Order: sequence, then structure tokens, then C-alpha cells
Amino acid sequence: MADVEALCNELSEQVKALRGGSEAARRRATAAARRIITEISDPEEMIEQQSIVLAEMACIRMYIAWGFFDKIPAEGSVSYAELASSINASESLVRRMGQMLVATGMLKRPQPDHVALSRLAPTFKTDTFDGCHFTMMTDEFQPAYQAFPGFFEKYGAQVPEGETKVPFCFPDGVDGKLTYWELIAKRGEGNVDRFGRAMQGLQTHAWPYTGIYDFSWIAEYAQTNSERPLLLDIGGGQGQMIRAVLEETPAIPRNRCYLQDRPEVIGPVKESSANDPVMKDVQKLVVNFHKEQPVKGMYTKNKIRYACALVYLIRRCIHDYTDEDSVKVLTILANALPADEPRARVLINDQINTEDPTPFVAAYDLLMLTIASMERSEKQFADLAARAGLEVVKVHMKEGTMCGVVECKKAGV
Ligand SMILES: C[S@@+](CC[C@H](N)C(=O)[O-])C[C@H]1O[C@@H](n2cnc3c(N)ncnc32)[C@H](O)[C@@H]1O
Repeated sequence: MADVEALCNELSEQVKALRGGSEAARRRATAAARRIITEISDPEEMIEQQSIVLAEMACIRMYIAWGFFDKIPAEGSVSYAELASSINASESLVRRMGQMLVATGMLKRPQPDHVALSRLAPTFKTDTFDGCHFTMMTDEFQPAYQAFPGFFEKYGAQVPEGETKVPFCFPDGVDGKLTYWELIAKRGEGNVDRFGRAMQGLQTHAWPYTGIYDFSWIAEYAQTNSERPLLLDIGGGQGQMIRAVLEETPAIPRNRCYLQDRPEVIGPVKESSANDPVMKDVQKLVVNFHKEQPVKGMYTKNKIRYACALVYLIRRCIHDYTDEDSVKVLTILANALPADEPRARVLINDQINTEDPTPFVAAYDLLMLTIASMERSEKQFADLAARAGLEVVKVHMKEGTMCGVVECKKAGV
């Protein structure tokens, strides 16, 4: 029990720091609290807890599907009968799921037959980024995990390799036929959009946009060079990272920034950003990052030919690929880097794995396994970079998170 006492002291210290508003302290406090629960639970209690989590997730999923987190008022409560009648459902069904959520504290029961939101519940309102992340997990990755026994029976107990023979594609029977991205697209526009929104979830702690790498030097650079493209976000999704950088450093000229992604992503972004003050001038290009990078090559200034661009950012894409494919993608970027600009960079923004990963990094490493990829350590990124003709300048981290930016330059420059 000595460990438990030490953990309790750690919890108590972090709770004190938490009162000062520290996000890192909150994470250290919840990590200590979880460890305490693990240390003091008996095995039976652990199994009970796992059953509870599964049931809770199923009920949250249905309450989201029925829009109940929107229908329960911010103040006060609503009756199960009202919720049920709003979707023509049986009150008993709605109540049984509701009582599960009340039992875990996700909802509250301020009076008999009524439910109210807890502090955490609004996160599941329709189309919130975190809510989309949750439904992406339940609808797309949970089936992939459930497919593990069948998948490993068919392909052998090996780390999956290749783009199509992956657990993610197994439940749909398209393993060996479609890639992860093709399956997401095949599931329809709504699914592509949900994925794009899910990618914007968990942005406070797991994947913060800012506070890791300081992009402000790009604004200073822009004043000394009026032509070079400045910032390219490769596989940038709905433009969330570029937006965050431009909001943080408005002096970076927007029309010299590029968002690149697949056609089914860029098409809707072009439409939705037409009147968006931050994103409307950002160049949006359909680019397959497995093929040659189009924003590279040469431009002319004072009759001199220069190569471009300045910064190639690739965020949470390398972790989607095997080492072989990652090296190919990074080589394309390394080759696009201008030889005449020593400050030019490739920035790889991903979680940084360690010998002892946090539970979330370990979970995401497993998630990546369902598409034959992984979360990588500093050493693994350095190896990829070297094989791609890059050299790591520095790994930037933000205190309290495992999200990092691996800053690379062209090797030997
Ligand atoms: C995990 S998401 C990351 C999105 C964004 N960079 C972020 O961190 O929020 C990977 C992105 O890569 C895009 N993508 C996948 N394959 C691609 C390809 N071959 N060429 C360009 N983009 C691709 C996906 O559409 C998706 O937006």
C-alpha cells in the first residue's frame, strides 16, 4: 500500500495546483487518481468496471443518435417521457439507458423520472468535435478492435502490413481491397465530415495546435521575402492547424499558406471557407502526398530563379503509415525543400511515444495498429528522417502533453 499512499500524496499535491488553473496539474491529478483505483481495485471490481464502461459507451452512443444531449436543457431537467416522445420511442427504453448514464454520473437525476446534464455531458451535443471523436471511436474503431480475433486468425499473429490488409477494413469485408481512407470515403460524405470534425477533438491536451512550435518567425521571414510560399499543411484536413497558426500569428500572409488534402476533404472546405475571414485566402489544393509535391520547384525574382517553399508541415499523417510509406512521403517533402534557404523546414507534428507511454499514447498506438501503423519515438522519427534525407534539428514538446513537433531540415544543409 506504500505506492498508494505516495499516489494519494501526489493526487493531493496536484489537486492543490489544479486550483491555480493548471491543465498539466489536472492531467497529473486524474492520472494519479486512475492509478489509485487500479492499485486498490480487486480483479472482480476491474471486470465490473469494464462492463460499466462498455454499457455506458453504448448508451452515450444512442443518446447522441437521438439528439438527447441537445434536448436536455442546460438548466433544469427533462422527463424520460418527453425525451421518448420526441423520437417516438418507448419510455422504458429511454429510461433504462438514462439510468445507466445517471449511475455513472454522466447524467443527473434531480427529481424522479427526470434527467439533467452533468458537467461532462454537453461534450456529446450534436457535432461537437469531441463528440465526433467519440462516435468515430464507437462506430469505426471499436468494430476494428472486435475484429482482432478474426483478423489475426486469417492473417496470422503479426503486426499488420500494407494499406489494405488491416483490421480497420476487416469488419466490412474489404480487407485486401480498400485502404482506410478509401473505406472512410466509401462510407459517405457524412462520414468524411465526421472524421474531419473528429480530428479537431481533444485539442486542449492530446493534440494542441499551439504552444509546441513557435511559428512567428514565418511572419518575420515574410517581410524579407515577398514571393516564397510560406506554410504548407500536408494532409491538413479541414484546415484546423493552419487556422490556429494564423489566429496566433495574424502577420503571416494568408494567401501564401497552403492547405493540401484529398479531394473529398478539400472540396467541402473550399465551399465552407468562402466567407471565413481566416481561411478564405488560404490556398486549398487537392494533393496526394504519396505523389510529387506540386508546391516546390522554382520562382523568379530579379531574374534569379529560387526554389520554394519555406515550411512543409505534416501533422498526424506520418503516424497513419508504415515506416516504408512514411519514408516515401518524407522523401517527397525533403526533395521539395529549397536548397537556397537553410531555414526551410519539414515539421512532423505527431504524438511522441516513449518506453513507458501514457495510456492515451498506448491507446492511439493500438488504434494505429488497426491501420498498420504506429505512434513513434524520437529515435524512430530520427531514423525515418535520416532515411528520407532529412536531419532532426529539435523535437519541440509542450509541457504536460505528448504531442510534439519534430523539426527537420534537409540533411547536410
Ligand atoms: C489523421 S488526419 C490529420 C488531419 C490534420 N493534419 C490534423 O492533424 O488534424 C490525416 C489527414 O490526411 C489526409 N490524407 C490521407 N491520405 C492522404 C493523401 N494520400 N494525400 C493527402 N492527404 C491525405 C486525410 O484526408 C486526413 O485529413
